[in-house]
Amino acid sequence: MEKQKVLVAGASGYLGRHAVREFATRGYSVRALVRDREKLSTEGPNLEPPISEFVTEYFTADALDTRTMKGACKGMDLVFSCMGLTKPQDHISSEQVDHLGNRALLEDAIACGVRKFIYISVFNAEKMMESDIVKAHELFVRDLKASGMPYTVIRPTAYFSDMGMFFNMARSGHIYLFGDGSNRFNPIHGADLAKVCADAAERNETEIDVGGPETFTYNETNIMAFKTLGLKPSITHVPMWIADAGLFLTGLFNKPLASVMTFAISVSRFDNVAPPTGSKGLADFYSALAAKG
Ligand SMILES: NC(=O)c1ccc[n+]([C@@H]2O[C@H](COP(=O)([O-])OP(=O)(O)OC[C@H]3O[C@@H](n4cnc5c(N)ncnc54)[C@H](OP(=O)(O)O)[C@@H]3O)[C@@H](O)[C@H]2O)c1
Repeated sequence: MEKQKVLVAGASGYLGRHAVREFATRGYSVRALVRDREKLSTEGPNLEPPISEFVTEYFTADALDTRTMKGACKGMDLVFSCMGLTKPQDHISSEQVDHLGNRALLEDAIACGVRKFIYISVFNAEKMMESDIVKAHELFVRDLKASGMPYTVIRPTAYFSDMGMFFNMARSGHIYLFGDGSNRFNPIHGADLAKVCADAAERNETEIDVGGPETFTYNETNIMAFKTLGLKPSITHVPMWIADAGLFLTGLFNKPLASVMTFAISVSRFDNVAPPTGSKGLADFYSALAAKG
């Protein structure tokens, strides 16, 4: 039987690399949609694997120029997209990348007769629509649902790559947290999430909420980071009203940073515990980061 072919958009990112490896290991032929293929040949900052060996072919495109998406899906059976703007960038909005970039990809998928589109949004999105990032994801979800294309939307909690960001803060000696740190969440390793993504290719669910196997408070994960590094925990809890005031001021002069801050503040307001899956624990991830130096 001929191999199933999947286009992975966002292949150079944290989840994208794990997804490329998972699909390829399951026997799919993978086309990676990238801006810079060189990135795929080295390990990422959060221990994401180098993945060049798993990629059958590349398609170079940039969501900021939607015309470049044309032909990306030619000959593909499936599209998996975790293409998104996750870090502040001058003059670039989530609307451009997460909504309009993915919409251009969807239009190409429809034109090319793709059988299914799998998309990554965010767990608890409906509670965070004040965030530009979440809103852009959900505007795309709306387009996807209206398009007639068979789809699965996967809504994960925080990734271990976010935990890596806090780990780096701990390395520098101090962590700032929005709120009192008592809210609970179950972060997920990219490899565990990639399995859910690849399973979705062969299943019929249209929406999947998913988190990792362990639930923590934000305080617990950060204390764990300090302890792994052999450091005394040092955490400042920024009260939500100060966070909101800081956000207002930031929004006046730095919109990209305010966008990321809005998401970070929104997600800190409540518990984010999704149905658990996977086997990879946070303590092992932190130990591996510490060993890497
Ligand atoms: N991190 C989390 O905790 C979390 C939780 C829930 C949902 N999500 C969502 O999951 C998705 C993946 O997250 P991640 O942490 O894996 O993100 P990531 O590591 O930042 O990867 C994002 C990917 O999107 C690509 N991309 C960004 N701008 C692009 C553009 N203009 N044109 C083409 N490609 C572009 C990046 O390519 P380059 O390498 O070229 O920049 C990269 O491959 C995002 O939509 C994110 O919002 C994340």
